[in-house]
Amino acid sequence: MDFTVYAIAFAILVSILTMRFVLREQNAVQQISGPPSPSWPFGHMLQLMLPSQYGDYEFQWLKQFGSVYRVKGCFGQDRLVVADPLALQYILGSSAFGRAGMLYVILNLLYRERSVIDAQGDEHRRIRAALNAGFTATAVREYEPVFQKVAESISKKLETCARTNIYPLLISATLDATSQAILGHCIRDLGEDFIANNTQIVELTATQSTTQILLDALSVRFPLWLWRAMMYLPTTALKAMREGRYLTDQLGRRIVGEKLDAASKGLEMNDDLFSRLVDPDTPDKLSGDDLVAQIGFILIAGQETTANAISFGLLELAKHPDLQDSLRAEITSAVDASAGAVVYDNMPLLNAFIKETIRLYPAMPLVERVALQDTTIPLAGPITSSTGDMRYIHVAKGQHVTLGIAAYQRLESRWGVDAHKFNPSRWIDETMSRRESVGPYANLLSFLGGSRTCLGWRFAILEM
Ligand code: HEM
Repeated sequence: MDFTVYAIAFAILVSILTMRFVLREQNAVQQISGPPSPSWPFGHMLQLMLPSQYGDYEFQWLKQFGSVYRVKGCFGQDRLVVADPLALQYILGSSAFGRAGMLYVILNLLYRERSVIDAQGDEHRRIRAALNAGFTATAVREYEPVFQKVAESISKKLETCARTNIYPLLISATLDATSQAILGHCIRDLGEDFIANNTQIVELTATQSTTQILLDALSVRFPLWLWRAMMYLPTTALKAMREGRYLTDQLGRRIVGEKLDAASKGLEMNDDLFSRLVDPDTPDKLSGDDLVAQIGFILIAGQETTANAISFGLLELAKHPDLQDSLRAEITSAVDASAGAVVYDNMPLLNAFIKETIRLYPAMPLVERVALQDTTIPLAGPITSSTGDMRYIHVAKGQHVTLGIAAYQRLESRWGVDAHKFNPSRWIDETMSRRESVGPYANLLSFLGGSRTCLGWRFAILEM
């Protein structure tokens, strides 16, 4: 045995270790544990998206595999489900990830590239910055009379009926509130055709079905031009979308045209956001066409989301009459103390109630993202994989990641051992763990985070 033999043996050992390391890094996602797949065409997607009760499987997997685990998407695709706070914060804030899924295809077909939800890069920043004028803390407070008027109108309707389904009332009230605050027109002015179509569109964007799950899987493989061409197929859903696009365009042109006309004649403008945005003295002005392109999404963005949150809040109040009594007492005494004004900050229980409602019932419990380049996701806590603990995950370009917003908002490590329970007092006792700050409000991700944070979050909180 001479030196050469040792050198060759050493070189082989180093190569094997390097190969193992490279393979391990490349296959990091495959090494992450997860439940066995029940089927090839659907993977875990039916369990994840269509359980009989939301989270039936998802919350069980969270418990079993931790805050990051692997599931199968349709046709054998590997997907990561992520509920780790640091990983979520990284994915939402990083340009290494982009949006994925059928919802964004539908939104693009409905509202096109110029709408804030579809615009990308500098164009998105420009539109968002201009619209933001109507969503600052000060701007939103000015909508309070609108919210009060809409709430009074609902109360009147409720006083006349002993038993009713609250949801249709709320879905029309939230549309009314946004329409008045943003466009300066009440819901009636939107027209019967627009409202009938709005009901169809809300249903289309909110429902999940097996067909949609399959379309979702295909959406990444089809280019947008192909979806645009398919828009002309004679199906009920596509007909509703075509009609929606036409009606929104018509409505937008009418309303923006009136406002531009009033501004050019120097007439006194209203307080709604669009009147402010056509004002010649407004910096960051949007063009008339830009404004028309925003109407459809802004009206729908705050409609079902806020109506759902209020419905779940009311459901919890129905289940907890003692909480109803305490809330009513707090609101009455705060309003009395401020001579009839609503001072939201003086009502800690109401604040806690709203935070707890949107924690437990986020509007988008699962959000799809795809890696646009190879990247490394950091983790707040280690996860176990087939090769030991991982503190970060290397993912390759094209990797699908499902953001478990609802799961994050039920992490026991973060919210306490009763994380699955509705318990507003957790916000008052301050028993929760305070670590990475995520999302724009109360460390919650119901309004998402990063550059796509919900523009209307302050609006929604005050409205609720
Ligand atoms: C409880 C009520 C609400 C919830 C939970 C909510 C949630 C969200 C979420 C999760 C997103 C991100 C969508 C995505 O990028 O995939 C979003 C975006 C957005 N939301 Fe909200 N939203 C609410 C109310 C509102 C209201 C009342 C308005 C306006 C009146 C509004 C306007 C917007 C806009 C304009 C965006 C697009 C932001 C962008 O892409 O830059 N939202 N919202």
